[in-house]
Amino acid sequence: MEMEKNQRIISFSPPDISEAEIQEVAEALRSGWITTGPRTKLLERRLAAYIETGRPDVDCQTDAAMAAYSNRVVCLNSATAAEEMSLRILGIGPGDEVIVPAFTYTATASAVIHCGATPILVDIQRDGDDVTRAPEMDYEKVEAAITEKTKAIVPVDLGGIVCDYDKLFEIVERKCHLFVPLEDDGSMLGSLSARIQRAIGRVMIVADCAHSLGAGRVVGGTWKNCGQIADMTSFSFHAVKNFTTAEGGASTWRRLKGIDDAEIYHMFQLLSLHGQNKDALAKTKIGAWEYDIMGPWYKCNMTDIMAAIGLRQLDRYPKLLARRAEIIKKYDAACDALGISHLIHHTQRMTSSKHLYLIHIPGIDTEKRNRIIEKMAECGVATNVHYKPLPMLTAYKKLGWDIKDFPNAYSYYENLITLPLHTLLTDEDVEYVCKALQNAVESN
Ligand SMILES: Cc1ncc(COP(=O)(O)O)c(C=O)c1O
Repeated sequence: MEMEKNQRIISFSPPDISEAEIQEVAEALRSGWITTGPRTKLLERRLAAYIETGRPDVDCQTDAAMAAYSNRVVCLNSATAAEEMSLRILGIGPGDEVIVPAFTYTATASAVIHCGATPILVDIQRDGDDVTRAPEMDYEKVEAAITEKTKAIVPVDLGGIVCDYDKLFEIVERKCHLFVPLEDDGSMLGSLSARIQRAIGRVMIVADCAHSLGAGRVVGGTWKNCGQIADMTSFSFHAVKNFTTAEGGASTWRRLKGIDDAEIYHMFQLLSLHGQNKDALAKTKIGAWEYDIMGPWYKCNMTDIMAAIGLRQLDRYPKLLARRAEIIKKYDAACDALGISHLIHHTQRMTSSKHLYLIHIPGIDTEKRNRIIEKMAECGVATNVHYKPLPMLTAYKKLGWDIKDFPNAYSYYENLITLPLHTLLTDEDVEYVCKALQNAVESN
């Protein structure tokens, strides 16, 4: 076959690391400060500026930028930690229910479990959203799942496609009479959580934006970037993500009347660093060795080595997104010609972060889907499936969830393949993937 002569090796999602990231990491290593420090703080301000303005090049060293963008974003060691710390700050724990999609990565639900709360899985819309085909939750089922125990909903911007937050906010406003805010227990964390729950006054929206840094959509009639939409938002900077720090993640939140951002930021610092009231950098100040432990908390801070990668990735991010858009255009044309349905990454009201390219091969079952994946692998093309629904995984089966109760998640999964989408792909690689897909589908 033609393809065998010109065999290429196409990885699924290798990191795009330039000399700039390598240099910045080397400088961090030489600087004598490798754990959480100045580079992490700068990355936090730059991410805050990027989320607020859409610009990655705001000078975040000026006094004005320090004032505007400090205490808005917290960088941590993963999105899982970011979601868990967010839920903990919101006061979510045993006895509480949190609604999550059945069709997502385990971390969306496991962070809820780590807090001692109960995830309530909700099926997705049949064949996904009408316009984008993204596996968004069935919003009628979301509304029906809200009880007096429900404290939060965790929508997932899967593949970087932003969910319908207008619908979600409408639902939680409509159901606000069921929301029972936490009682203030007088503790440092408990008092803050109770004040936040009272200030929000309805089921809280805690977005899983692990895939969607740089995406946005019209919400409430105005354009909003991910990070500006939900009550709390978590991002992932894992090695396979568009924007990486090897491992890593971040949390941000919408400003709340009567609660200082610095107070929320400080609580994230405490929760993510043993409850210690001075970080390592603060302790290096002359005579400032002494610290206290405010709670027996967690350890999930970002290091300056990770932040060094992020600082240079952020410089390059608009170009990386633009290249992803070019690849998507080519995939769209090839899939449309083959009658294969795919995610729509751009609409008049939404632009995604172009993270994953999900396709559905019409009329096939999982066996045939897996054969297509194998055939593509034989041609050197790595593909994937995002995701096997949670109720099909051992841990969630053991918790009592059954895929029979999630027919839409199953039918979405059955004929699903994720094509490689990353910025190391050349135009020739993309053509090769399209050809390998065509051969695999046609010979199946
Ligand atoms: C939808 C979703 N949420 C959360 C996560 C967790 O991200 P991290 O690995 O940074 O904890 C992932 C990771 O792939 C994900 O895909």
